[in-house]
Amino acid sequence: MAEIREAAEAMEPALALLRAGEIVAIPTETVYGLAGDATNGAAVAKIFEAKGRPRFNPLIAHVATMAMAEEIAEFDPLSRTLAEKFWPGPLTLVLPLKAGSAIHPLVTAGLDTIALRMPRGFGARLIERLGRPLAAPSANSSGRISPTTAEAVADDLGDRIQLVVDGGATPVGLESTIVKVEDGRLRLLRPGGIAAGELEAAAGAALVRGAKNGVEAPGMLASHYAPGAMVRLDATEVEAGEALLAFGPRRARNAGAAVAMRNLSEAGDMREAASNLFSHLQALDRSGAKMIVVEPIPHDGLGEAINDRLARAAAPRDSGASYK
Ligand code: TXA
Ligand code: MG
Repeated sequence: MAEIREAAEAMEPALALLRAGEIVAIPTETVYGLAGDATNGAAVAKIFEAKGRPRFNPLIAHVATMAMAEEIAEFDPLSRTLAEKFWPGPLTLVLPLKAGSAIHPLVTAGLDTIALRMPRGFGARLIERLGRPLAAPSANSSGRISPTTAEAVADDLGDRIQLVVDGGATPVGLESTIVKVEDGRLRLLRPGGIAAGELEAAAGAALVRGAKNGVEAPGMLASHYAPGAMVRLDATEVEAGEALLAFGPRRARNAGAAVAMRNLSEAGDMREAASNLFSHLQALDRSGAKMIVVEPIPHDGLGEAINDRLARAAAPRDSGASYK
């Protein structure tokens, strides 16, 4: 069972867990977050595993300083103005990911944008001490509401995590507002702790509502990373010229004919496979092969989210293909 510790005495144990690649539930001003080192793929995989998410939604990366944010993302002038006005606070900015940033691709689910936020309080101090950004979705299991007390986190995730840092009831009680600047206009992707009117006043312009393709909920992103190559699942045989996304110790027939091969996890470890998924897909795509074939991957645990993502990558694509 998770230990619940007062924030005043939880800094060192939380740091020790995060440095060891473990995950910790922490208070933020909005809701409790389930935090892991955003540069460590295995830690990020543990977040998805503990939440029992059936798919990989991109996560928010939390930073402590503007300098840390600038190492991760490119700021346009309007986003910078909003960050200066509302950070630290319940505002999340979706920004272009900086090339070569240390963020693990599982955080962004392979996207070339990243959701960034600078929280207040314990989370900010923790990130500052760690010296690295924290990936943190709300600390609830998939399908349940976001927790605003340490007890609510422990009731839900207590048997899956070691530590819940207790900072009392979260002051805002709602998730952060998520916005993205597109062609100089500000788009509201998720309403939250900062009212739209406050953002409009700061931006000096009306907000555009909803995602570009009309899909409202963030996470249901049509822009999700899709490889340029076609994808064939559950492959038991490789044809000449294909690239192979392997899993486990046993190879598909004719694997030697593949022009490129990456193994998600030689040992068949689902966490390792999750943390390798997006970088391996990208690497195989860069090989120039027209077809990426994927060996069968079990559906248990994180396998559900891995297979969900691969099924989307393999789905027939046309210009209007939406991510549902
Ligand atoms: O207040 C909050 O925002 C809390 C605390 C813990 O910081 N976090 C939170 O995270 O609500 P989560 O994972 O439950 O919600 C993050 C949302 C998801 O709906 C996800 O789809 C969206 O952010 N998101 C993340 N990266 C994105 C991106 N690159 N583009 C668009 N949406 C993105
Ligand atoms: Mg959530």
